[in-house]
Amino acid sequence: MKGIVFTGLLDMVEEQYGYELVDELLTENDLPSGGIYTTIGTYDHAEMVTLVRALQQKTGIPIPDLLRVYGHYTFRSFSRSYRMFIDQATSAFELLNSVQHYIHVEVRKLYPDAELPQFIIDKLTDKTMIMRYESERKMADFAYGMIEGCLDHFQEKATISMADLSGDGSRVEFTIQKE
Ligand code: HEM
Repeated sequence: MKGIVFTGLLDMVEEQYGYELVDELLTENDLPSGGIYTTIGTYDHAEMVTLVRALQQKTGIPIPDLLRVYGHYTFRSFSRSYRMFIDQATSAFELLNSVQHYIHVEVRKLYPDAELPQFIIDKLTDKTMIMRYESERKMADFAYGMIEGCLDHFQEKATISMADLSGDGSRVEFTIQKE
């Protein structure tokens, strides 16, 4: 998993809870990297799981909620640092529809070792989008937050529902219904 995902998480924790909690997360957990992340470095996904579990214990916030808020935060931060990818779209559906065949393709050019999910669009009309998420990393809640962040960015309102097709979080269907 790319360092940018780790530094983003730690930035969010610092912003919301202060540096002390970041320090505790990094020193109280067994992190093979030593807790030193650079944005372009690559680290074991297991370290992300360790950090999110520890954060859940410290804050009492359930892991799915933490991942969702983190996804939302990440979209906002990506919309600043990767504006060129966001600006090519004029609506949330257009952007979400471009993640698999454009945005994440460009991400892979920048970071050849990125571990990216698959997104399959099963239905797309003016009002409804059905998008399937597939990844061994089981970060659908993070994807949920990214979708929320994307809707906010375009100032659009929609209801998002989520169905776990695999039972273990590796294949999840999102239905995004605009008002
Ligand atoms: C400017 C837009 C975007 C950029 C620059 C971007 C970039 C990235 C990067 C760098 C990673 C980390 C890869 C790794 O750790 O090896 C990632 C992972 C991920 N991205 Fe994107 N992304 C964007 C938009 C989106 C959107 C809109 C969604 C949701 C619909 C999304 C869903 C995910 C998920 C769920 C992961 C976690 C990895 C996994 O689940 O397997 N991304 N993305």
